[in-house]
Amino acid sequence: MPDTNEAVTHAFWLAGRKATGESTLEVTSPWDGRRVGVVSVPTDAQVEEAVAAADAVREEFAASPAHVRAAALDHVSRRLAERSEEIARLISDENGKPIKWARGEVGRAVSVFRFAAEEARRFNSGEAQRLDTDAGGTGRLALTRRFPRGTVLGISPFNFPLNLSAHKVAPAIAVGTPIILKPAPATPLSALILGELLAETELPAGSWSVLTVPNDRMPALVQDERLPVISFTGSEKVGYAIKESVPLKHCTLELGGNGAAVVLSDYASDADLDWAATRIGTFSNYQGGQSCISVQRVIADASVYEELVPKIVAAVEGQVTGDPNDDATDVGPLISEDAAKRVESWVDEAVRAGAKLLTGGTRDGSNYAPTVLADVPADVTLSCEEIFGPVLTLHKVADESEAFAAVNDSKYGLQAGVFTREVRTAFRAHRALEVGGVIIGDVPSYRADQMPYGGAKRSGVGREGVRYAMEDYTYERVMVLTGLDL
Ligand code: SIN
Repeated sequence: MPDTNEAVTHAFWLAGRKATGESTLEVTSPWDGRRVGVVSVPTDAQVEEAVAAADAVREEFAASPAHVRAAALDHVSRRLAERSEEIARLISDENGKPIKWARGEVGRAVSVFRFAAEEARRFNSGEAQRLDTDAGGTGRLALTRRFPRGTVLGISPFNFPLNLSAHKVAPAIAVGTPIILKPAPATPLSALILGELLAETELPAGSWSVLTVPNDRMPALVQDERLPVISFTGSEKVGYAIKESVPLKHCTLELGGNGAAVVLSDYASDADLDWAATRIGTFSNYQGGQSCISVQRVIADASVYEELVPKIVAAVEGQVTGDPNDDATDVGPLISEDAAKRVESWVDEAVRAGAKLLTGGTRDGSNYAPTVLADVPADVTLSCEEIFGPVLTLHKVADESEAFAAVNDSKYGLQAGVFTREVRTAFRAHRALEVGGVIIGDVPSYRADQMPYGGAKRSGVGREGVRYAMEDYTYERVMVLTGLDL
């Protein structure tokens, strides 16, 4: 456990080397307020140095051999695995995430870097297209390959401080584009460890930096024309403010959601409902509900609703709350007391408006109890916004089409889960649901790091998932060869 009194000051990473600035920020545990780190903050001049270094290395990095980039990515993957327990403890300390979930996050980051190494080896071999299908193209061949759009500014959130940083950094290295990573001020320590591992590689100086820039100094970086690509994960409000402030930049936004789990009439055996309830109980509360794809809404067919509700309440009440360092803990604190107070105020508003509290609804400092509500009026904040806390609302519907309409009755569209055993229903759900991902037979919270991930509607634009982020960071450029004997 980090020293509480004499926390060392962590350097940030400027163009691949350690640096310290003139001020610091403290990182404290959301669980007990303990100081878990002190982080040096770069000066404006140091930020400028990092951006200039990225700009200077851009062409060299884009031309670097795939095997060099792949070897660096493999190295980081291996080292994350070797240091996994230490890094998981750090994530748990800075974020308050229960250690079991922090371990899962490190395991995912190991995979993200490994996937990126594999993709780097096969990316951009090019696609040939004969053009002599018309007389004017006789003897001509088009060869299309992808090239980086330019240096990426990656802005990562507090909820998966390592893995969502990995999703920004690994694809950038895989395509040979420099990246400036800006971690969340509440949870910078795991991103700084990532810097330590990147510094062990042969990647060129300037190709990556991890800068602990405070949020209020970000507008200048966002505006910097040498950073034409912005990859942001965080709130809807900040995401769209960024996009609107730089309309000419390429922005990928991974924003909010209010994940729905639909339980249909064919998913009706005792075992089916037990499985659905267990998954819903777990994934409305994992990371204290602080995931964009945690289950916020259960939409259940009337024929299974009455049997399902007590099972869900039991599953939620079975979640072990407490010290995130304890192996048995399922649900720890939220990121801050303010976050827990916001959740409390939304639940209180819903109850005042007539919602029925089935369990939970209490706060102790930064901890909010796993909570289930039914009969929540449609116009309260909880029904319209992303709760980002351990709170679940239950809705009874008459049939499948009402269920799908209820999922779509939201400004968000990130992922949805549909509990059905019918393959034709699965295809109907895939077509009807206005979301970035439909998970059949499980909760919306399922994410495999190699699959496309991102939202529809106000949940964002663009896709992550290693190969999809690589495509996002690059654009197609065609070369036409002439005078060929095809
Ligand atoms: C998110 O909160 O958007 C990320 C979820 C995940 O990576 O599992």
